[in-house]
Amino acid sequence: MNLPTKNKKLIDWVNECAEMMTPDAVVWCDGSEAEYQKMSDIMVDAGLAVRLKKRPNSLLFRSDPSDVARVENRTYIATKTKEAAGPTNNWIDPNELKATMKELYKGCMKGRTMYVIPFSMGPVGSDISKIGIEVTDSPYVVMNMHTMTRVGTKVLDVLGETGEYIPCLHSIGKPLAEGENDGGQWPCAPLDKKYIAHFPEERLIWSYGSGYGGNALLGKKCLALRIASAQARDEGWMAEHMLILKLTSPEGVEKHVAAAFPSACGKTNLAMLVPTIPGWKVETVGDDIAWMKFGDDGKLYAINPEAGFFGVAPGTSMHSNPNAMKSIEKDTIFTNVALTEDGDVWWEDIGYPAPGKLTDWKGNEWEEGKSEGPSSHPNSRFTAKAANCPSIASNWEDPKGVPIDAFLFGGRRPSVIPLVHEADSWAHGTFMGSIVGSEVTAAALDLKAGTIRRDPMAMLPFCGYNMGEYFQHWIDLGKQDGVQLPKVFFVNWFRKTDDGKWLWPGFGENSRVLEYIFNRCDGKAKTVDTPIGKMPAKGEISMPEGVEQEDMDELLSVDLEGWKKEVADIKANHYPKFGEKLPKELAEFLASLESKLNA
Ligand code: GTP
Ligand code: MN
Ligand code: MN
Repeated sequence: MNLPTKNKKLIDWVNECAEMMTPDAVVWCDGSEAEYQKMSDIMVDAGLAVRLKKRPNSLLFRSDPSDVARVENRTYIATKTKEAAGPTNNWIDPNELKATMKELYKGCMKGRTMYVIPFSMGPVGSDISKIGIEVTDSPYVVMNMHTMTRVGTKVLDVLGETGEYIPCLHSIGKPLAEGENDGGQWPCAPLDKKYIAHFPEERLIWSYGSGYGGNALLGKKCLALRIASAQARDEGWMAEHMLILKLTSPEGVEKHVAAAFPSACGKTNLAMLVPTIPGWKVETVGDDIAWMKFGDDGKLYAINPEAGFFGVAPGTSMHSNPNAMKSIEKDTIFTNVALTEDGDVWWEDIGYPAPGKLTDWKGNEWEEGKSEGPSSHPNSRFTAKAANCPSIASNWEDPKGVPIDAFLFGGRRPSVIPLVHEADSWAHGTFMGSIVGSEVTAAALDLKAGTIRRDPMAMLPFCGYNMGEYFQHWIDLGKQDGVQLPKVFFVNWFRKTDDGKWLWPGFGENSRVLEYIFNRCDGKAKTVDTPIGKMPAKGEISMPEGVEQEDMDELLSVDLEGWKKEVADIKANHYPKFGEKLPKELAEFLASLESKLNA
């Protein structure tokens, strides 16, 4: 067979995979449009995808109802010692996990084709980019990887004969018997057979049993966050769960902002925001992951390692995110949304009523106001090309990256946390990131609605090593000589009134807070020092229509009693999780915050 690479290590590894998993055929992906079309045909012919008449080159998939989201309790960080993985990751001894998984992998691709996907996270050939090779038996994964990463022969050319890559092994875990087919049912393994395994010391990923999203598209959370965060710690850079946006003032001055909000807290929305304030422009560099390195000039430069958006569909509308709606008009993969009779998609809060009878995400007939449950799974997603996004920044693929002026942290906090406050220093900013939390919505089954789930830096599920050491890495980065650190802000778009209404209109109106942050980066807007940090002086944030001065005052006040409870919760329930590894600076910030609140 004529192989597209002479990289011996790669060829040997692919051969080993094939021997272990015994696929019927092996295909090296070239990343071409023809290949994408071939995968589409295979999936449509197998009854696993529906072509959407209303959206050119777009498909709808319905996953198995058990395979709809990342499975955190089946996600492992397999390091030599338990301490290296840390108290907040699931740990198994790497040898033990490999033995278990090899049993599962044995013969698991029988009756299927094994695809070898060479992909680059980041522009092909850039210094900051990383090459991965995903081996998978899922054409759905091949298609999604085409959109989410840069795939193909060009990647193998850069890899050359001796280049390094991150091996990413994936199988849906559903071998086929002689003559058997999937019968139109999304193939996957049962939950107790699913493993999403990371070996950060070896820079290796093994995934088994799930075909969905972050479990199967291994370039995203597995490589670009879990493995990359461990590499970043070793090499002095940052791999973060952050959007990247470019903000241009009416005077034409550009600044770049990176923001970490936990999943489902608005990164994609903010990255594609359409400002309501005249003259301002927001452009998208990335909506989920940022890789950042300090340049020779001391500035922190960020690239988006991805090439597409894997965004939450429900709630996406022409009001909440018009740029996302325009990004998904063509060339899009939809997963677990509803289908209309005329061959379009529909979901909850898409901004218009369901046009007649639908087929819901489980494949059943569904009628708005009559049928039980939502038409679309709450975690249903679209996979869209970044290049199709009207707000994509012209320099989004610049291999140098964009210089970051400000970091934002945030989460869903109906009370206590103000609309915006600013850290007094980098270490204070690290403290702010370490206490990020979000209200548990009714959607999460295992946690009580209304409680706060802490998700430091929005990285708790994505850090490939000990979270205490991760905090220390942040602190240490700030201690380097000659670096220009971004200013750090904490934002909260999710404040509610006592009767449950939004206190802040959010979405495009968040541009008012971006304007203030822009001015702060120039040292312009006036602030007031408070126990929690710098707050905007009265009038520094312009008021959206429909918001009263009284609301503004509430959004921008320090709720002393609320913060005391917050501190007590962090002290009792959050910080103790990190044990000895919690940097002393963070414990000190907590103690000093407590005494300031009590003063
Ligand atoms: P992942 O892609 O899973 O990492 O999450 P994400 O951070 O990109 O979340 P996403 O942008 O998909 O968050 C979507 C949810 O946040 C939707 O329910 C939105 O309606 C809501 N949301 C986003 N911005 C705002 C806002 O400014 N105000 C309010 N009230 N809701 C918002
Ligand atoms: Mn998103
Ligand atoms: Mn995410």
